[in-house]
Amino acid sequence: MTFASLLVERAGFVERLTLNRPEVRNAFNDHVIAELTEWALHVSREPLSSRPRVVVLAGAGKMFCAGADVTWMAKTVEYTEEENVRDAMAMSRMFHALDTLPIPLVGRIHGAALGGGAGLAAVCDIVVAEDGALFGFTETKLGILPAVISPFALAKIGRSAARELFLTGMRFPASRAKEIGLAHAVVPAAELDAAVNAYVDEFKTAGPEAVAAAKTLIPTVSSHSAEAAADLTARAIAARRVSKEGQEGLRAFLEKRSPSWKTQ
Ligand code: COA
Repeated sequence: MTFASLLVERAGFVERLTLNRPEVRNAFNDHVIAELTEWALHVSREPLSSRPRVVVLAGAGKMFCAGADVTWMAKTVEYTEEENVRDAMAMSRMFHALDTLPIPLVGRIHGAALGGGAGLAAVCDIVVAEDGALFGFTETKLGILPAVISPFALAKIGRSAARELFLTGMRFPASRAKEIGLAHAVVPAAELDAAVNAYVDEFKTAGPEAVAAAKTLIPTVSSHSAEAAADLTARAIAARRVSKEGQEGLRAFLEKRSPSWKTQ
């Protein structure tokens, strides 16, 4: 697949997806939203045997992403309310498609992740940031709202940090992003790619179906009490144990060999 605003590079089991509008700091408009959604839906539908085992989301140029394109948003004043809602729903679908990608998504954050850029970090499963990177839910500074990204951001940072950061719109360092669960690792800029690749390499040895099932398990279980979740968690592990992949993983361990899915 080729896109105007995204670079997609596949190398073996990893796909590298790069936002590619460096002249506007990778701000996303309706075209980028359509492309990101199309990419996510396409890759989600690929059969397990041919789809990537892990995706790295990065930004070209000076920074990861400056959020929604302000020029595009300013123009929406000419839209009807219905057109505006439709536009925002398309953005919501993009975040949902990335959030539920059945493949681990690793965010490589350099420079800044602001507004919707912080929203993109929130839908990554693993976020690795350089120590100089700035984050911010900056929307109120522009008189707007981190509305579409809020379900995804709240799931990561919780209500307390959201009260502080959504209301003030303040920018905060990568160290704070790590404290609130928006980033998982913060490293010097020179070590960013090595730190990202260390996470990528973990997926050489994790069972791809098991990884997808673990990803689905988290939001499902989070919306249930432990008691209510007992039946579905029992069914989830029962299904994995008897699956071809589960049997292969268990046998490989007992036979002291690598599982068939292991990638060099
Ligand atoms: N939407 C549209 N254009 C944007 C943008 C955005 N979110 N963020 C940056 N740009 C554009 C700038 O307007 C500028 O365009 P120009 O060259 O035509 O003047 C270009 O990208 C470079 O931006 P500049 O501010 O000169 O670069 P910088 O590297 O010094 O700073 C940022 C980059 C991202 C820190 C700064 O542009 C910024 O704070 N942007 C707003 C981020 C934000 O609040 N996003 C939330 C949107 S909801």
